[in-house]
Amino acid sequence: MTTAPDIAPFLEARQITVDFPGVRALDGVSFSVRNGEIHALVGENGAGKSTLIKVLAGIQPAGSYAGELVLEGRPVRFGSPRESAAAGIAVIHQELSLIPHLSAAENIFLGAEPRRAGFIVDFGAIQQNAERILRRLNATLDVAAPVSTFGIAAQQMVEIARAIRRENRLLILDEPTASLSERESRQLLALLRQLAGDGQAVVYISHRLDEVLAVADRITVLRDGKVVETGLREDWTRERLIAAMVGRKMTFTPLASSRRKGEAALRVRDVWAADPVSGKPVVDGVSFDLHSGEILGVAGLMGAGRTELALTIFGAWIGRWGGHIWLANRARPIRSISDAIEGGMALVPEDRRRHGLVMDFSVSDNLMLAHLPQYSTAGVVDEPTVRREGENIVRRLDIRTPALETIVKRLSGGNQQKVVAGKWLLGRPAVLILDEPARGIDVGAKFEMFQIIRRLADEGTAVLMISSELPEVLGTSDRVLVMRRGRVSAVLEGTDATPERIMEAAV
Ligand SMILES: Nc1ncnc2c1ncn2[C@@H]1O[C@H](COP(=O)(O)OP(=O)(O)OP(=O)(O)O)[C@@H](O)[C@H]1O
Ligand SMILES: [Mg+2]
Repeated sequence: MTTAPDIAPFLEARQITVDFPGVRALDGVSFSVRNGEIHALVGENGAGKSTLIKVLAGIQPAGSYAGELVLEGRPVRFGSPRESAAAGIAVIHQELSLIPHLSAAENIFLGAEPRRAGFIVDFGAIQQNAERILRRLNATLDVAAPVSTFGIAAQQMVEIARAIRRENRLLILDEPTASLSERESRQLLALLRQLAGDGQAVVYISHRLDEVLAVADRITVLRDGKVVETGLREDWTRERLIAAMVGRKMTFTPLASSRRKGEAALRVRDVWAADPVSGKPVVDGVSFDLHSGEILGVAGLMGAGRTELALTIFGAWIGRWGGHIWLANRARPIRSISDAIEGGMALVPEDRRRHGLVMDFSVSDNLMLAHLPQYSTAGVVDEPTVRREGENIVRRLDIRTPALETIVKRLSGGNQQKVVAGKWLLGRPAVLILDEPARGIDVGAKFEMFQIIRRLADEGTAVLMISSELPEVLGTSDRVLVMRRGRVSAVLEGTDATPERIMEAAV
């Protein structure tokens, strides 16, 4: 242990209570973080983690909650994020906050641009500094390109680089690794250890419990807005963490797989796609068959071309592309999104806030809108069925929402993700493409979601599932396709599909 118990905390929250309409998000929560310590915060979706972070960072301003904050022994009232930043607190939020048309370098130095002669923004210096910071993260990105051209993992790297560009006293990260691959996550965790070693305080939120157990000095579990327990790392095991999070013992049974495959529902031949900006190939000659009733996992590192492949197959790639994509039930190959949808294909996209939800619509509308024809007779919507199916998916995925009518914007990040997934699970598509379906979803709901995916496959859906979490890929898939630099580097099945073989093929 690097921290002795008698060291005064850097920042302390005492008896914090936060109320939203219909929900007590935090209920008398006390939490502290010391210099040089990594304090992990875990809990189910909707437990109150992000709300606590917002209090610590002044986003939930003093006056909007009961209780007090103490900074280095003195009571403090943050009226805005600016005030907490002045105290040396930096936050990486669950929702990305980049400005899409600005470059990575400009986003990293937003509001703190190095200037020449006092007023001219020095773009050369910005780019060099941005590259230097990204090197610490072992991330190679085109810092001059607009961030809107990046995938979500690269955007996350930019977000992290922005937070660490200056010396902080306290760095707070709300699920920073949710969209990162294992290797990128390891790199980030190593950097956090280094920052803590230099004396920074770190608060770390993650649903990846193995990471939490690997990196934290202390761990606090929140459940339903209350602290269940705070303890030193050595006092916790994975099982104890899960039990504390869900308030009951959970038993996982492996999902039965590898029953007989149906016919090829989707055939992909020599598909390629080019980056819309650089014109470089991001998918480079991919061929495979996807059978009905089969779950084909897609593994690979960030930048391997997995999301690009998914978008291309769905007819949604914005750059140039070519090759042949056939659905068994259509005579012509897929050329557009409407071809794909008419053929019964559905895509749960990686960037769900941007592509998957209407934030001002209710949970019910978000779940149902895409499927109204399925629930209508002669144009009249069968309301009772819609309601029953909606309630059913809310219960199965344990979507924490006051009501089906609640607007999606008011749900916690993980519960929003569940709504997007629920929407496609309801649709019973012929071919379902899932891009990181479990990102940001807690352990209990994750298991439930994979069971639903498994059941869809058993009912005949062909599933293509991209995921960076190997246990999830291996535990659910019948076969695993590994991508490296736009190409298929291996297709593994049965006893060949081990984490080692996958990593070998991915790097
Ligand atoms: N702006 C808001 N208006 C109304 N309710 C809110 C608002 N923000 C959060 N809540 C509610 O407060 C509770 C706690 O949400 P919070 O975002 O803190 O959860 P979380 O632990 O971060 O979950 P996740 O793992 O899903 O990110 C949830 O019930 C959520 O619906
Ligand atoms: Mg959250």
